[in-house]
Amino acid sequence: MIVPGRLEGRVAIVTGAGSGFGAGIARRYAREGARVACVDIDLDAARAVADSLEGPGGHAFRCDIADGASWAMMVAETTARFGPFDTIVANAALTQKPARLAKTPERDLDRLLAVNIKSFYHLAVHALPVLRKRGGGAVVNIASVTAVRPRPGMAWYQATKAAVVSLTQTMAAELAPDRIRVNAIAPAVGATPMLQSMFGPDDQASIDRVVATIPLGRLCTPDDIAAAAVYLASDEASFVTGAVLPVDGGRLVG
Ligand SMILES: NC(=O)c1ccc[n+]([C@@H]2O[C@H](COP(=O)([O-])OP(=O)(O)OC[C@H]3O[C@@H](n4cnc5c(N)ncnc54)[C@H](O)[C@@H]3O)[C@@H](O)[C@H]2O)c1
Repeated sequence: MIVPGRLEGRVAIVTGAGSGFGAGIARRYAREGARVACVDIDLDAARAVADSLEGPGGHAFRCDIADGASWAMMVAETTARFGPFDTIVANAALTQKPARLAKTPERDLDRLLAVNIKSFYHLAVHALPVLRKRGGGAVVNIASVTAVRPRPGMAWYQATKAAVVSLTQTMAAELAPDRIRVNAIAPAVGATPMLQSMFGPDDQASIDRVVATIPLGRLCTPDDIAAAAVYLASDEASFVTGAVLPVDGGRLVG
């Protein structure tokens, strides 16, 4: 049973809100009382989610998180519409096709690094000043359990998620004096479109093999991640910073 209103009066940016975990987080945040900036490189997808929000609702904004100018414009548009935001969910990311180390095309690697890691530089330059100026806030980063429990064939994606864990810890230490809390969620493999971009639409055998490695015996859902993201953004977590919360069905201990 969800008690509504845990994010009453809040304004949240959710990147990658057009799909998967981000869409689930945006919907739950709105139900908990936040106004939500649904940010995505795919504006139509973000609009569809923004239009579906309950509670105080939200609005869709286009942003390529790998691009600083795109961040600057999105932050300006968001604050013009909602006023200063207090919560940022850094969720958008790319994955890679399973491949041995040297088999990933260099161009794909460069884009992966830009979207999954360099985007945090742009977030720091363009979005953190808004939190700092309003006197604090919460950042929730979406990492992955694969950052610390890797599988073969996913080296570069997993390395970017290990970087998200490291960045979360450094950001938490560096931003605590500004009253900005920074935490991460480490999901197990999820039932989202990202799964298909990893394995292809018909590869049920690979999905079954992955599920067999998760003690609770199922894929992670957007609701699982949204529940954790509400907690970490809410005042219930007011003394929690620098944490990396596994939401992984026991993958780490299995
Ligand atoms: N699905 C999984 O198995 C899984 C497991 C662990 C962690 N994660 C992490 O969870 C997060 C969400 O994953 P998901 O499964 O919901 O993915 P998804 O592919 O379903 O959704 C990702 C969203 O991000 C958007 N996006 C991609 N590049 C962007 C860019 N440059 N700028 C702005 N938006 C961009 C896409 O358009 C899409 O709407 C990611 O950080 C991912 O690494 C996913």
